[in-house]
Amino acid sequence: MKLNGSHIFIFFAFQVLTLVISAKEGPELLYTPQYDIYLFDKLYDALTSRDYDKELAGIVEIRKMLESPDPSYDGFERSGILRRLVEHLSSEKDVIQYESASAIATLCSKGYSYLVVESDGISYLFNTLLSFNKTIQQQGVLAFGYIMGHNPDYRDKCIEEGVVFHLNRLIFSSKTPEYLLQNVSWAMSNLCKGADEYMDEEAINEILPALTTLIQHSNPAILQYAVASYGYLAGEGGKFIQIVIDSGRIVNIIGLLNHTDVKVQFAAAGTVSILLTGNQQQIQRIINYGALPQLIKLLIHPKEDLKINSLQAVYNLVTYGNPKQIEALLKLNVIPSICNLLDNCSRKIVKKSLDIIHILLEKSESIREIIGKHVNEWGGFEKLEEIMDKTISRLHDEDNGISQGTCSR
Ligand SMILES: *[C@@H]1O[C@H](CO)[C@@H](O)[C@H](O)[C@H]1NC(C)=O
Ligand SMILES: *[C@@H]1O[C@H](CO)[C@@H](O)[C@H](O)[C@H]1NC(C)=O
Ligand SMILES: *[C@@H]1O[C@H](CO)[C@@H](O)[C@H](O)[C@H]1NC(C)=O
Ligand SMILES: *[C@@H]1O[C@H](CO)[C@@H](O)[C@H](O)[C@H]1NC(C)=O
Repeated sequence: MKLNGSHIFIFFAFQVLTLVISAKEGPELLYTPQYDIYLFDKLYDALTSRDYDKELAGIVEIRKMLESPDPSYDGFERSGILRRLVEHLSSEKDVIQYESASAIATLCSKGYSYLVVESDGISYLFNTLLSFNKTIQQQGVLAFGYIMGHNPDYRDKCIEEGVVFHLNRLIFSSKTPEYLLQNVSWAMSNLCKGADEYMDEEAINEILPALTTLIQHSNPAILQYAVASYGYLAGEGGKFIQIVIDSGRIVNIIGLLNHTDVKVQFAAAGTVSILLTGNQQQIQRIINYGALPQLIKLLIHPKEDLKINSLQAVYNLVTYGNPKQIEALLKLNVIPSICNLLDNCSRKIVKKSLDIIHILLEKSESIREIIGKHVNEWGGFEKLEEIMDKTISRLHDEDNGISQGTCSR
């Protein structure tokens, strides 16, 4: 390449810039301590003192630091103190075990699971699940939940070391109190999140009976995570959707669309919507269990989130279903409900509704005829056009700050 005048100048400027940047960062990285070394040394000494009171005081201080809004993660990463902290998870003293588990669960909850994993925390955490003390077990379950939700690699590592066995033990034990079971159900959902073809098949086979227990519980907080777990498992599609269908719990999942707790309904609608991305036989199974009337009922639910999840389910059905399945949906008068959503609703809902109509209009002549008939019964295409004009100008006004999104249901 031949360098002309301006190339040389840019090259020169780039060199200078590089120098300026490195001059600014270099010394800071090399010499300036980024954390209070004195404090962390003191804590390190306390944790290795073999003096009960000193150890406990040090651990409590660490727990409080981690609970504060902006702890020095750098100090925790570089001082080597976490490695000492996780060792205390196997303490024979309840208080020490509890305090260190609580510190570690807090650290994981803030997105720093990797610091715990890199300090060999996973294997030490199993000690908390083996405790007879429920509040210690709870902190362990929370830590595992966050670690498994962090990424599939960590999830697989926890599975490899035996987390499914321990969670199942808590689920099947009559001694597990409801508050703890809530957290176990949540941890299970994090275990199922991002299920992929690499996930241990044996683990999936062991999880299913546990989910069967959880999805028949009466506590909404437990149900919500149990039903979401099936959706996460099915998220990988094909074979995984079949696993969920074969688990025999579709009837429970669909039943939860009609639960009295909105969060449970929301999770159930999300799961049903994922199941409707399957092949036509799989979709037919979901229809046979009576999912469609329940889903359509949710289109007029006052909660926006619920409307969106059930619209997504309708969208998946018209995308992946065959003409017969789509006709079964249309028979339930879904078109008038969708036309009404184009009025008065939030941008997300309007967009999803229009997407559904677009897909439907590209289907066969007979489906287009049914739609035409239903739109006419609802009020006609002129009314639909009027509403769309009104909605377009309303959304436009919202964009320009003229109105405050008064209609964002
Ligand atoms: C469990 O451990 C915590 C923390 O040390 C303690 O407060 C609680 O009393 C213990 N519970 C039982 C039942 O021993
Ligand atoms: C754990 O369970 C408690 C109820 O005991 C609940 O308040 C808390 O939100 C749960 N935490 C998570 C992460 O699910
Ligand atoms: C839905 O729930 C209501 C009230 O809880 C109940 O009356 C109704 O029978 C349920 N419908 C179905 C189809 O389960
Ligand atoms: C939308 O809002 C207008 C005015 O509040 C009301 O007249 C109309 O019935 C609403 N449309 C629907 C479908 O709820």
